[in-house]
This record gives sequence, structure tokens and C-alpha cells, in this order.
Amino acid sequence: MALLNILQYPDERLHTVAQPVAEIDDRIRTLVQDMFETMYEARGIGLAATQVDVHERVVVMDLTEDKSEPRVFINPVITEKDGETTYEEGCLSVPGIYDTVTRAERVKVEAYNEKGEKFELEADGLLAICIQHELDHLMGKVFVEHLSQLKQTRIKTKLKKRQKHNM
Ligand code: NI
Repeated sequence: MALLNILQYPDERLHTVAQPVAEIDDRIRTLVQDMFETMYEARGIGLAATQVDVHERVVVMDLTEDKSEPRVFINPVITEKDGETTYEEGCLSVPGIYDTVTRAERVKVEAYNEKGEKFELEADGLLAICIQHELDHLMGKVFVEHLSQLKQTRIKTKLKKRQKHNM
């Protein structure tokens, strides 16, 4: 397994729209393993392939503290959404920034696991929020793009300054 580099907002590559996975093979299974390792190391609860500069529809997630519920979503599609909820979100690609985003309260998602098996999942609560956040990444959208232009400009300025400082 290997740790992958997580792209940092406002990196333009985070705006790439991911392509569907053509075949769930060993290359994809290795990617999934590396994404889990990278996400756990960074103490995140979800990671989209877009964030590690791989532009294919792959997401990993684990909402537990003890890494006991790893979830893989390959070629995920949200088929139903309803209700409305707000949550203070963060993102491994936007370190140190947290803000409230409004999303659907419940979603139904269809996807494949790393064995190539199709599954359907109905989610609410944090899982539903996380699914929507990660699927946004696959469409090239970062959570801060749900915020006002003013907030986005402030966040960009702050992160650019910080990134320059770290170089
Ligand atoms: Ni994110």
C-alpha cells in the first residue's frame, strides 16, 4: 500500500470531472487500498479519487472511529434525494476550514464495490451528507463552492497564503 498526495484547494485539478471506472480490476483495488490508507492517515471520514488526482469515479468512506466500517463506492449514482439538512463540513483538501452546507437529508445511492458487485444503499444522517460531499468531488466540486462568493474568496486567500508559507 502507499500513501497518496492529497490535492489542496484551490488546486485546479480538484475541478476535474471524473470518468466512470471501465473495469473493476487489480489496478482499481490497489487504488482503493491506497485511498483507505491515505484517508485513515489523514484522519478523514471520506476521500474521493479526484482528491488524489485520479479522475475516475471511486470513493472510500469510513465514519467510525475504529476503522471498522470501510465503504467503497465505485461508479456511484444518487438515484433519490429528499428532505433538507445542514451540517458543518470540512474536507481533507481544504484543511482547517469548516462551514455549514445545506444538502438533502436522505439519499439512495447505487454503486459497485471493489469486487464488482452492485449494491444499493439508503442513507441518512452523516452518511448521506458524506456521500453527497464525496460525489460532488467526482463532479469537480469542492464543498466551499456551496458557500457565498465572498466566503470562497476569503478561503482561497487564506489557503494560498498558508501554502506559500509552507513552501
Ligand atoms: Ni472533501
